[in-house]
Amino acid sequence: MTLNTLKMIIFKKAADISSFIREKSPEAKTIGFVPTMGALHAGHISLVDMAKKSDGLVVSSIFVNPTQFNDKKDFEKYPSTIEKDIDMLEKAGCDLLFLPNVAEMYPEGTNTETHYDLGYLETILEGKYRPGHFQGVCQVVDRLLDIVQPDCLYLGQKDYQQCMVLKKMTEARHPKTKIIIAPTMRETDGLAMSSRNMRLNEADRKLAVKISETLSFIKAESGKGYLEDIKERAKQYLAAEGFKVDYVEIANASTLEPVEKNDGKTPLVALVAAFVGEVRLIDNINL
Ligand code: PAJ
Repeated sequence: MTLNTLKMIIFKKAADISSFIREKSPEAKTIGFVPTMGALHAGHISLVDMAKKSDGLVVSSIFVNPTQFNDKKDFEKYPSTIEKDIDMLEKAGCDLLFLPNVAEMYPEGTNTETHYDLGYLETILEGKYRPGHFQGVCQVVDRLLDIVQPDCLYLGQKDYQQCMVLKKMTEARHPKTKIIIAPTMRETDGLAMSSRNMRLNEADRKLAVKISETLSFIKAESGKGYLEDIKERAKQYLAAEGFKVDYVEIANASTLEPVEKNDGKTPLVALVAAFVGEVRLIDNINL
């Protein structure tokens, strides 16, 4: 039986998926990996599609990682649509799905000694507003990469800072794994697809689109010159519309250092994090 005719195989044990992958890797040539927390949407599937085009074996994982949630309520309310997720992954041609529980992922408990050196990346934006979040992300992805040992790790630009953090972690701990970043998939009105969108009621869903509209406004207005006024106007606009804004920032696209002035040469990115009701949403746009 060749890999192409296999239906998706689901593994719950790390040792089982690991040995299956090692057995298949000569035949597969390259292994592409798409880690997720489930409640899948077309954004996740776009990563699987990308992997499908380049890799011989496509592996995905669904694990709602407790150690990356700084807010207990957010963890408890994280949506779960497992049957639908399995169906979507299978239809997308995903070969293997790793579906561990907490004990399987963290056999020695979640409090490990490992500290990931993320430098200032951990102190700004998401790092500042979600203390410990990126340590948790690195902890789980480090373990997943140990298990899967992929050639390519597929991530979404939607989580811009996460991509940078994971680049740093993989360069240090999994140098053979290449990171591939996929563009943000959006709903037809522009809202960035997110599992957390499922938690929005009708009124908040309508309001949520103002985040991507604000980013488009920033892109249109941020020609050469000082950026403080644009950031301030964007913040005030979102607050007046009823958002609780964590940040609106314009930063150097390769370092994420905040930028005060657009010199017209340095690639920039605008990033927003804001609560719509109880739901915290993030989005970004390259300027
Ligand atoms: P999750 O939020 O499920 O996202 C899984 C992957 O899908 C991430 O790489 C994310 O950036 C990407 N993604 C999410 N929304 C997207 C969109 N609208 N368009 C394109 N890609 C999108 O991110 C996580 O899970 C976790 O932190 C994880 C990396 C799995 C570690 O637990």
